[in-house]
Formats: sequence, C-alpha cells, structure tokens
Amino acid sequence: MYNQDIKPVTVKTFQKLKENNEKISMLTAYDYSTARYIDECGIDSVLIGDSAGMTVLGYENTLNVTIEDMILFTKAVSKGVKRALVIADMPFLSYHISKEETIRNAGKLIQSGAGAVKLEGASEFILEEVSHLTASGINVVGHLGFTPQYIKTIGGYFIQGKSYENAVKLLESAKRLEECGVFSIVLEMVPEEAAKYITDNLSVPTIGIGAGKYCSGQVLVIDDILGKYYGNTPKFVKQYVNLQQIMKTAINQFNADVKNGQFPFPENVFNIKEEEREKFEYISTK
Ligand code: KIV
Repeated sequence: MYNQDIKPVTVKTFQKLKENNEKISMLTAYDYSTARYIDECGIDSVLIGDSAGMTVLGYENTLNVTIEDMILFTKAVSKGVKRALVIADMPFLSYHISKEETIRNAGKLIQSGAGAVKLEGASEFILEEVSHLTASGINVVGHLGFTPQYIKTIGGYFIQGKSYENAVKLLESAKRLEECGVFSIVLEMVPEEAAKYITDNLSVPTIGIGAGKYCSGQVLVIDDILGKYYGNTPKFVKQYVNLQQIMKTAINQFNADVKNGQFPFPENVFNIKEEEREKFEYISTK
C-alpha cells in the first residue's frame, strides 16, 4: 500500500544526492527480513546482488546464479522495502543472448518489485543491451572495474585501473554507459585516485565497493558487514559485528538445552486448564 509519509528513493534522488555532495548508502539483501531492517535504518538503496550465489546458495562465484534465483530474491526483498531504491542484478547470461531475452529478463525483475537492474561491463554488445533497456523505460545501473561475472576472463580477484592509462579506459567506458542512459555506476576494486578521477568526470553518481572514499556512494555485501559470510573477507570490507559467532553461540545453547531436556522451558509450553488436566491424569493412570 502506498504510504504518504514515506518518500521513496528514486533515480532522481540519486542524482540530487550527487549534486548536493551527499553520499548514497547501499547494502545488499536477499531476503524479506534483512531488507526490512536495512530499509528501516534509512539506507538509500538495497541491491539484490548476484553475490547471493556465494552468500545464500554456497557457490564459488556468481556464474551459476539464474534469473529464476534472482526473481525469487527480488520478490522477497521488495516486499520488505518501503523507501529504499531496490536494484536487482541481472545474472550471468541473462543479458548476453539477444535483446529480446535481455528485455524479458529485466522485465521479470522489474515485475518482481525491482526499481532498477544492474549489468556488468561496457563492451559494444553490453552497451547496446543497456541502450535497449533504458529506451524501454527500465532504469539501469552499470558496473565497472572488477566485474565478478568476468572472473574466468580476468583470471582472479584483481584490482582494476591501477595505471593512468587504465583509469582513462575505465572513464571512457563509464562515459559510454552514461550516454546509453545508466543512472549510476558501481565501481568495484578500483584504486581511490582512479575512482575519484572517474567520479569527478561523470554526471551520474558512482557507487564504490573497494574504490575509496571519493565515490558518490558506498555499497557493501550485508553478510560481510555482519560477519556472517563463510569465505574470505576482502580488505575493503568493514565488519561491524561477528554474527557468525553470535549465531553459533545461540545455536550451541539450543542444542545443549534440547539434549539435556531443558527446552522447552515452562514459558514455551501450552497448558490446558486444571479441570481438564485432571481428566488426563485419570486417563493416564487407567
Ligand atoms: O553482487 C553484488 O553483491 C554486487 C556488489 C558487490 C556491488 O554486485
């Protein structure tokens, strides 16, 4: 239901924040309750990242995530969000086959509740797909620098744009994405100086992840900031809490309470009235 008290974050809000030199905050989410917490904390945007491949589905990388997976996560997340701009990642191969498939897949994510989609790269082929999407009224976010869906061609988790020449190439790609109508660009694992150079020379806001403090905004994976992810935590992550430890303490306690017969405690049990209980005692002594 539309709530008049809540002013939703839109593509225009992103632009305004950049123009006013105010930072944009973004976190990933993959489920209803986490999305709701993030939204209630006033984060500007929730990204349903295909990082779900690692954080939720236990894959080694993002390449096995399907459009069906992303649709499910998008439905759950968008139900929990009232204010933040919901952006859904288009997974590997969902925008690489044909324009028709790209539009159909992006459309499915929008119909599942996303306000925008995100695509990685800026090859001629990708630029055409982006133009086609924006011309069809679909909000698009670009993603440059380290692009996880290209992990096999990049060959590893390498920082991108380390030389002036490479930073210039990244800016050229960013400008072309801008011409194709993206309203924001994620910069991943780019040196701070290069990210500043790119951010200062673009009209649209940049959202950094491992790209230093001069980007227009910052995004991190929720499992990383909460200390919940099982794999390695990259240098650019700030872990605010160790949820893995907190969860395991609670789970161990439950296990012990069950094993030693302490759980359920009296307050966790439904009881019947005394007069009815007597009948049970009668039956059980028969
Ligand atoms: O998949 C994801 O979570 C992302 C962010 C890391 C930017 O693309």
